[in-house]
Amino acid sequence: MADDLLDQIRLNGAVPSHVAVIMDGNGRWARERHLPRPLGHRAGMKAVREAVEGAIEASVDVLTLFAFSEENWQRPATEISALMDLLEEYIAKEASELREQGVCVHVLGDRGRLVPSGRAAVERVERDTCEGKRLTLNLCISYSSRSEIARAARLLAEEALKGTRRLEQIDEEAIRERLYTAPWRDPDLLIRTSGEQRLSNFLLWQLAYTELYMTPVLWPDFTRRTLFEAILDYQRRERRFGNVTA
Ligand code: FPP
Repeated sequence: MADDLLDQIRLNGAVPSHVAVIMDGNGRWARERHLPRPLGHRAGMKAVREAVEGAIEASVDVLTLFAFSEENWQRPATEISALMDLLEEYIAKEASELREQGVCVHVLGDRGRLVPSGRAAVERVERDTCEGKRLTLNLCISYSSRSEIARAARLLAEEALKGTRRLEQIDEEAIRERLYTAPWRDPDLLIRTSGEQRLSNFLLWQLAYTELYMTPVLWPDFTRRTLFEAILDYQRRERRFGNVTA
């Protein structure tokens, strides 16, 4: 399958601890096949499985997937409800397997906008998988980076107004701690599928020094091989974080 790439990754050594993915191209994949868009999303669900299993095989610690943005609420109601149904189906079908694989699922974003059954499913999968130690899977749903940062600013402003925080205590660390991603280090590698070259309001704060990997592969065609190729590319990069080479 992809064992040749995995062997090479292991030989190279340092694997990205945190990989983030913008899963794009489901609609184009469906259009190429004269299928309705929701079938592209359904095919994308299989690719999520590939990404999770590949991440476990490559010993990635955290996988953060952009599943639904706040902007996506503007899509036609039929597509939104197909996506939400798919999310619930994914949780219903995969929760026990994710748990067996040692995956711990978190959902990041404004879950208050989900329908009650979606919210309940999200809470259930988080509860049922919370002991997983092999991989953290963050699903960003109803997530947008600018509103995440605005929310952090609001939380800090509230503390300042209450008098529990001085203005000079509003610094980068204070903001970082109020982002949904606070428990994890910033992504080392961002993968975007479908050939688009943009960030689409995803993890704008957290991606400051992340290595970017854009691939023309449409998300439903994404396999663990695509993930391993991205990791191999990452392993060839030199990360300087604004410093100079030693
Ligand atoms: C972008 O493709 C993809 C999405 C908006 C949805 C992503 C959803 C999945 C991969 C399936 C379900 C996910 C989980 C976690 C169960 P697009 O529709 O923007 O494609 P296009 O740009 O080709 O139109």
